Parts: sequence; C-alpha cells; structure tokens
Amino acid sequence: VTQRAKNITRVQHGVPTDERERQNGHKGGVLWFTGLSGAGKSTLATKLERALFDRGYQTYVLDGDNIRFGLNANLGFSPEERAENIRRVGEVAALFSRAGLLTITAFISPYQSDRERARKAAGEHFHEVYIKADLGTCEERDPKGLYAKARTGEIKDFTGISAPYEAPDTAELIIDTSNLSIDQALEELLGYVEKTFRS
Ligand code: PPS
Repeated sequence: VTQRAKNITRVQHGVPTDERERQNGHKGGVLWFTGLSGAGKSTLATKLERALFDRGYQTYVLDGDNIRFGLNANLGFSPEERAENIRRVGEVAALFSRAGLLTITAFISPYQSDRERARKAAGEHFHEVYIKADLGTCEERDPKGLYAKARTGEIKDFTGISAPYEAPDTAELIIDTSNLSIDQALEELLGYVEKTFRS
C-alpha cells in the first residue's frame, strides 16, 4: 500500500529482539500455515501452540476465523479483501515475531503474491508451511458444512470450489494431512520447530 502519512520516522525499541530471544531461549519468527479450508490448519495450529507452550516456548496463534471477528471484521472474501486480510496479518505476525514470539498463522492465504508479501514483512524467520490435503478429502471432512453450501451456491467465491487456491512452491515444510494422523503431523511440526527455532 502507499504510505499515506508524511513526516514520520522510525523509533528504536528499548529492548532489541535478540535480547528477548536470549531471555526466551528461542528465536522469534513466523510459521505461516497455508492450505484449503478443512485441510487442518486451525486444528494443527492450536495443538502446536499448546505443545510448544508446554515445552517453554513463547507462542501465539493468529487464526483466520478469529481475526475476521475483530481486526479484519470489515473484510470479505474477494481477491482484494483477501489480499488486505493477509497484508494486515503479515504485518501483525512480523510485529509479534520481533516481540520474540513464535507466531503461528492459520489462514487459507490462497494467493502466492500475498504470501510473498507476508514473507517480506517478517524478514528472515518466516517459514511457510503447506498444510496439504486434496480437495476431495477436505470436502469429505467438511467440518463446518461450508463445502456443501459452496456447491449449492449459497456461499460464493469459496476457495477450491469457486475461488482459486495457488499451492505454494516455496514452502519450507509440507504437512500432508491426507496421509498423516493429527499426532503424526504434530510430531513433524514439533521436530521442525525444535531444530529451527531453538537458540
Ligand atoms: S483468506 O483466504 O486467507 O483470506 O481466508 P481466511 O481469513 O483464512 O478465512 C477463511 C475462513 O473463513 C470461512 N469462509 C471462507 N473461506 C473461504 N472462502 C469463502 N468464501 C469463505 N467464507 C467463509 C471458513 O470458515 C474459513 O476457515 P477455514 O479454517 O479455512 O475452514
């Protein structure tokens, strides 16, 4: 977006990020989950948050449904509104990450360009995690009954049915939930975090 305000300058923080990270015993950063509705993003994000917290990590989940009740309550599901949704969340995740938190985001984030922008906002500790499940599997699960409504046209612009999903080709990690149990998926995620974020 264009910079609207003029005459603004950056303020240095009293506590630099590396000091926070030393105190926490791990790096701050973003685990950016992307995937279809029903692929398992929210389930795995909240279970991972619990497991990491229990292991002493400072961690927090930003989830699509939740953020759309508050910060992004004024946004729908057009390509432009999804882009703005992801832009704001990308900036928030970058702030949390600089505050030393291991931030887990769970958004469909269907467009490659929006995810790239979030990656740029967060800097070096951005890890894209593709929560992968084929459309048939997601539609079969249909935990909120949204696919059924998308098929009848009651919900318009539904990802995978009447709106696109651009699968990532730059993901640092792929979690295939069509072929893994929740516990197996969690195990893989935990292993990845322990090797990547422990300092
Ligand atoms: S996006 O594309 O990243 O901006 O979407 P996100 O913020 O993650 O919100 C996705 C959740 O919103 C519900 N929902 C829809 N999803 C996709 N398309 C349409 N049209 C739609 N309408 C409502 C749905 O509950 C999504 O949650 P998940 O957890 O992905 O199923």
